[in-house]
Amino acid sequence: MAKITSVRGFRDILPDETPKWQRVEEKIREIFFNFGIQEIRIPILEKTELFKRGIGEATDIVEKEMYTFLDRGNEYLTMRPEATASVIRAYIEHHLYEKDPVAKLFTIGPMFRRERPQKGRFRQFHQINVEFLGQEDPRIDAELMSMLMYFLDELGLEELKLEINSLGCDTCRPAFREKVIGFLKDREDKLCEDCRRRLGTNPLRIFDCKNESCQETIAGAPVILDFICGECREHFEKVMESLEILGVSSVINKRMVRGLDYYTRTAFEITTQALGAQNAVTGGGRYDGLVQMLGGPAISGIGFAIGFDRLISMLPDTEGEDTGRPNIFIAALGDEAQGRAFSLCNTLRHAGIRAEMDFSDRSLKSQMKRANKLGCSHTLIIGEKEMEEGTAQLRDMKDGVQESVDIQDADNIIKGVRSKE
Ligand code: HAM
Repeated sequence: MAKITSVRGFRDILPDETPKWQRVEEKIREIFFNFGIQEIRIPILEKTELFKRGIGEATDIVEKEMYTFLDRGNEYLTMRPEATASVIRAYIEHHLYEKDPVAKLFTIGPMFRRERPQKGRFRQFHQINVEFLGQEDPRIDAELMSMLMYFLDELGLEELKLEINSLGCDTCRPAFREKVIGFLKDREDKLCEDCRRRLGTNPLRIFDCKNESCQETIAGAPVILDFICGECREHFEKVMESLEILGVSSVINKRMVRGLDYYTRTAFEITTQALGAQNAVTGGGRYDGLVQMLGGPAISGIGFAIGFDRLISMLPDTEGEDTGRPNIFIAALGDEAQGRAFSLCNTLRHAGIRAEMDFSDRSLKSQMKRANKLGCSHTLIIGEKEMEEGTAQLRDMKDGVQESVDIQDADNIIKGVRSKE
């Protein structure tokens, strides 16, 4: 019969790769704990309206990339393309702000965007997502970015560039919008069809268009950082100052607009040459109007999401990484020995030792081969003769030294394995 393969842009992360994912997750959870960031787990499916309103109707994500379907209950549902809108929905829905308006939340999981798959870009990808709610102080922006850089640094990543911009607020953005429209109106014929439409709906998106002619046209356009209001300017300057205090270096990228509409003021991305064209490993920013836009009180927020898949692809392959291999292999010959091995395996596992055996009762040589393949530190050999004597040979696979142990004395066997750990 014909094979059934996975869906384009959706991939399996195989057992050889998962230890790296686990290692990163352990590290980030430790850091989140130290920074007082709590985990929130949110559903993959949400009402489509959440993303339309949260991310913005005239963004690429909402216009072209969402996995949306009409549910049997006649309701439009969407597989989340990002986590921020969902986290804020949960924050509002459960009135978390009543207990404490200040919340620091993280979530890790798959996101779905129907983009064109290529290196570093998938249709199901994973994000490590953080949101800080209820704090407007610019030092928070710096603290968040500094934590992020610290984490990436701890993982040994190099050549990271933190790019920052300010996207202004509701006070200064409308005037800037008009400026851009004015500039582009005269050059409309140079824009792609999408951007001509965006000129009426969401002109700032044109900064993000990949079309060469649009890029050339927008290159001469005014940039928002030159037009932000006094308060936004002050916020931006304080963020830059605070980053300096924390010893985090960054560059201002006046052309960065980010692909989601909820951002206000601080916007940032971390890029690296190691990722080539898809070079952002992290994106984030402040979204002071989002909680209100989604039906909650006026509470500010800032957050980021790390592209987990991209992050993993940047990590070096560590040799001898623990892939969850058993520590001890029990090579048992003959029915009786196999029976003893079966229950001993269980006892060892309960004692916290990884144990494995071979049920096929093959020759000692092939069982030892398997023990080697699994990378076991020890093998317990129970032959027919040993069984009669009530003993087994505990072999250290590194130095080949063997000692005779009492087969009933599981504690002693455990001790023998542990002594080399
Ligand atoms: P974003 O920039 O759309 O932001 O995504 C963040 C990161 O997710 C990107 O920098 C990239 O590493 C990764 N990413 C995005 N799309 C793909 C893809 N198709 N394949 C692989 N990786 C991808 C957000 O999603 C915002 N919610 C971040 C945020 C949180 N802002 C505030 N809070």
